[in-house]
Formats: sequence, C-alpha cells, structure tokens
Amino acid sequence: MSLHLAAPQGAIAERVLLPGDPLRAKHIAETYLKEPKLYNEIRGAFGYTGEYKGVPVSVQGTGMGIPSIAIYVNELIRDYGVKKLIRVGTCGAMHNDIKMRDVVIAQGATTDSSIVRNVFGPTINYAPIADFNLLCKAVESAKKLNISTKVGNIITVDRFYDDEIDNEKLSQYGILAVEMETAALYMLAAKYAVQGLGIFTVSDHFLTREVISAEERQSGFNDMVEIALETIIKA
Ligand code: HPA
Repeated sequence: MSLHLAAPQGAIAERVLLPGDPLRAKHIAETYLKEPKLYNEIRGAFGYTGEYKGVPVSVQGTGMGIPSIAIYVNELIRDYGVKKLIRVGTCGAMHNDIKMRDVVIAQGATTDSSIVRNVFGPTINYAPIADFNLLCKAVESAKKLNISTKVGNIITVDRFYDDEIDNEKLSQYGILAVEMETAALYMLAAKYAVQGLGIFTVSDHFLTREVISAEERQSGFNDMVEIALETIIKA
C-alpha cells in the first residue's frame, strides 16, 4: 500500500507504462498483457500488472497534469521500487515538421510549471530530459515496427486553456508539441536515478487546426503503445 495505490508490495512490476487516462490503462492491459491483474482502483486510477513477451509490465493511469502524475510517479518509485517508466499520452502538435499520424518522442520537456523553480530556485533553469537508453531503444523499436516518429523538445504546460502562451515563439525554437505531464516524470526520474521517457500520439494540431478522428486516435494510440512496450522490455 502507498497513500494512493492499493497494491501490496511486489504487485507492481519494475517496468511501468503511464497513460493519463485510466481507461487507457485498462485498454492496454486487456489488449497487450498476458493475464493482467488489477491492483488499484483508488480514485478510479486503474493499475494493472501482466506480462508482455514474458516480461512483467505494469500499466498505471496517472490522471491529467503535473500534480496528478507526480503523486503516482513518486509512489511508484519510492514505495514500489519502479525503475523504468514510459508515459504514453496524447499531445497537441505545434510545429510544421509534425504531421497528424506521427508519434512524438520527448527528448526534452520544457515547462512553464513551477516544479523546476520549486526544486532549484529562481536562478537555475534545469532542463528535464529523457533517459538516453530508453530514447534510443524507442527510436529503434519504432523503426522495426515501421512507425514514423519525431524526436525533440516538447513543452509540458500547466494550463490546457491558456490565452497567454506564445505558441509561435515556442514553435520557432523547435518545440514540437504540447502536453501536461512529462517534465514532472523527467524531473522525478532524475531525482531518483531511474529511467523515464514520454511518447505521444498527436491528437490535435495547433497550426493546421486538424483534430484526428476517434478511429485514427485509436490506431495512433496502439502504435505508440507497441513502441513503448517493445522499448520497456529491452531497456
Ligand atoms: N494542450 C495541452 N495538452 C494536450 C493538448 C493540448 O492541446 N493536446 C493533448 N494534450
């Protein structure tokens, strides 16, 4: 037991996928894992453990935003000894290089969140980055699966609805996409010397105003999950 997870010790694998939506955790567990067992229902944050190609893997729903994911990531690492964490989520594309079906892999996670300031104070602008080994394995896995990816800097924002953010400038400086959790995952992975990575499916495009259909969202989501599973069992 931890404060927000009901699992007994040993019920969560060292390798965990982290979708924001708990129903996606259920979908991943039931679609890809052998003999998935539900270990958490507190707050509807479903968590399952099963096997992927013979390797124990867990899937934990994190909820939306940094405060929510930070609770689960802290407890998974500190209370359950999790070592490899891959967030699988959706993002808004904000760069011309990103097309609607691309899978985006976050090499770095720029953020407007106060988490960096709260840890390092006002003078250090710490750069939350992906684990290099997981990142390389994800790129390799995607190539093997014939899935097109874009790797680069993303931004983790505090507000989904934000009238002040300068998307044009961020795009000009190479920010590929926007989401709401990965900077916290990268900060916490660094703090506890474990491995973290964020992989995303584009759900909306800021420049072209496209929104993908439910069907495309599902197939894009499955592509991303396959990359994440192949990566996490090899890392
Ligand atoms: N903004 C923030 N987070 C997101 C978005 C977005 O447009 N799309 C998917 N996650």
